[in-house]
Amino acid sequence: MKQSLKIFLGEILNDDEIKLMNRSFDVIGDIAIIEIPPELEAKKKEIGKALLNFKHIKVVAAKAGIFEGEYRTRKLEIIAGENRKETIHIEFGCRYLLNVEEVYFSERLGNERIRIAQQVKEGEKILVMFAGAGPYPILIARTKKTEKKNVEIYAIELNPVGYKYMVENVRLNKVNVKCILGDVKTETPKLGLKFDRIIMPLPKDAGNFLDTALNALNEGGIIHYYGFSNNKEIFAKEIKNRCEYCGYDVEISDVVACGAYGPGINRVCVDLKINIKQTNQIYSTTVKTAFFIARGFQSFLKNSKYSEQP
Ligand SMILES: C[S@@+](CC[C@H](N)C(=O)[O-])C[C@H]1O[C@@H](n2cnc3c(N)ncnc32)[C@H](O)[C@@H]1O
Repeated sequence: MKQSLKIFLGEILNDDEIKLMNRSFDVIGDIAIIEIPPELEAKKKEIGKALLNFKHIKVVAAKAGIFEGEYRTRKLEIIAGENRKETIHIEFGCRYLLNVEEVYFSERLGNERIRIAQQVKEGEKILVMFAGAGPYPILIARTKKTEKKNVEIYAIELNPVGYKYMVENVRLNKVNVKCILGDVKTETPKLGLKFDRIIMPLPKDAGNFLDTALNALNEGGIIHYYGFSNNKEIFAKEIKNRCEYCGYDVEISDVVACGAYGPGINRVCVDLKINIKQTNQIYSTTVKTAFFIARGFQSFLKNSKYSEQP
């Protein structure tokens, strides 16, 4: 939610001070998350108090760091209102319980999540990597049309707190999602499944997991790959090239910018339709055949007089 601050801060800050503030702030559930510029540090409590006048806001928290670490979480300091960081955020009829400091969640990605959910087709098997508190899998499962579509959804999350909230949110929204705690790299192959659609919402680091996703995808399957870039077309081309280098035929079905990350840099999602190249299949068959011949030869040696040699 974006709301103008000027009306509410006019009595506390002068025009120059208002100019220092970001024009908008995030609202997750009933918690407003705001950036206080260093020049206004001394006035943060007053600013926080003024923001409590916004409808439905019960807590005002100031950003005290950037999203960081494997869990992509950010430190927050409560500057006004109730002393808590847990809230329930409602989005497209889904309810997400979460602690805004202990698990990643962005209300700005709501439209992007519905864009993906609306693409899901009858009978799909879906893997949501990097699932956080569960907004992608739960929205997909809850989307009315999808409910009748017999989809099977798996969601993996590394942060134990994020996983705990996802399990709770699955229960809260009465949907069927198989939640898995752990690292996508090791948990995905353990499932021993092939998916029709894989969602990769880890823009900072998705590249390190592309091979894991490609290996778990059905022929003709879709990958939604997220990254940060200042040029979405070039970014999409780079990802396509990487997949082709791994021996896949790739069609870019869409490229969307879904939120600003920094000056001139956007969060970008590339939708990729992936087919296994004929040459890739021949290569894989050749490697497998060579492996079986070598194994056969080894067991021949074991059972023959040659194996008695030192
Ligand atoms: C940018 S957040 C996205 C969370 C959620 N999908 C959302 O949109 O709100 C990325 C998430 O991936 C998780 N993560 C990071 N590395 C991971 C890994 N190797 N395996 C599983 N989850 C991982 C983080 O803990 C974090 O919750």
